[in-house]
Amino acid sequence: MANKYEMMTVRVTAIDEVTPLIKRFTLEATNGENLPAFTGGSHVIVQMQDGAKRHSNAYSLMSSPRDLSCYQIGVRREEQSKGGSAFMHDKVAVGDTLTISTPNNLFALSDTGSKHVLIAGGIGITPFVSQMAELAERGADYELHYSFRSFEHGAFAGELAAGAHGERCRFYVNSEGTPLNVDALVDKTTKDGHVYVCGPRPLIDAVISACRRRGLAEEQIHWEQFAAAPQTGGAFTVVLAKSGRELQVEEGGSILKAIESTVSVECLCREGVCGTCETKILEGEAEHFDQYLSDAEKAAQQTMMICVSRAKGARIVLDL
Ligand code: FES
Repeated sequence: MANKYEMMTVRVTAIDEVTPLIKRFTLEATNGENLPAFTGGSHVIVQMQDGAKRHSNAYSLMSSPRDLSCYQIGVRREEQSKGGSAFMHDKVAVGDTLTISTPNNLFALSDTGSKHVLIAGGIGITPFVSQMAELAERGADYELHYSFRSFEHGAFAGELAAGAHGERCRFYVNSEGTPLNVDALVDKTTKDGHVYVCGPRPLIDAVISACRRRGLAEEQIHWEQFAAAPQTGGAFTVVLAKSGRELQVEEGGSILKAIESTVSVECLCREGVCGTCETKILEGEAEHFDQYLSDAEKAAQQTMMICVSRAKGARIVLDL
């Protein structure tokens, strides 16, 4: 499929250590001009050349869509880092240049609905910062519910409380004994409201279930996971139809890793976000782990993202 991203070079003009685990990077165009426009909830893909290794991670833009003089991203150092977040924390300095993609939005705000309820867990706060700027600009009714383990993990809570959206933010701190009650919150949602959630998988699942129980339509429920879902499932055979080659994908392994030394596939993010590795399924069905395809597209079983998605059965034939 055609790559909808274009790559560009930006300069790192500020790095704030928000917490010991989270840094905020400010990025500006190297020619001093404005950066491409984006909407609240958009992300960019940052490509990092770390010696011989290349990392690509998607990060939500957390600056205002009204201010294109810079982008800001929040990067949490992941304990299970494949290398990208550690690279950003340890090796990127003010004045360095980075290669990033143009923005894309898989977590866009709805144009309809009487109210927008935003629910964040931990570093899942980042897309909501740009979304709140857009909602305020629209004059929309919105509220943010931001849940985190302890104040050490609640990056941006202080800034949000003191900032332009402070009146609309509620904070839930597990270590203080004030956790978020998802069911109670969703039960108060207006019937024509929209609910957005970003954070760890259990929070996303809890919010989706509560919204369905409340009777909200699927198009009123919006979610984004900030890291690729862990790939699970047994070993299977992948068949590359063009050459007839059959390769084994190990338990929990990715198709991409199993085939990339045999066939070249364009892969920008390697975490199910960008869509560049979308591949036609000729036989068999996929277990989808990506965030790119819609639920309807996943159910149709026509294509899959081979960087994260796997076969449902023992064998899958791909148009490669
Ligand atoms: S490489 Fe981005 S979705 Fe697969």
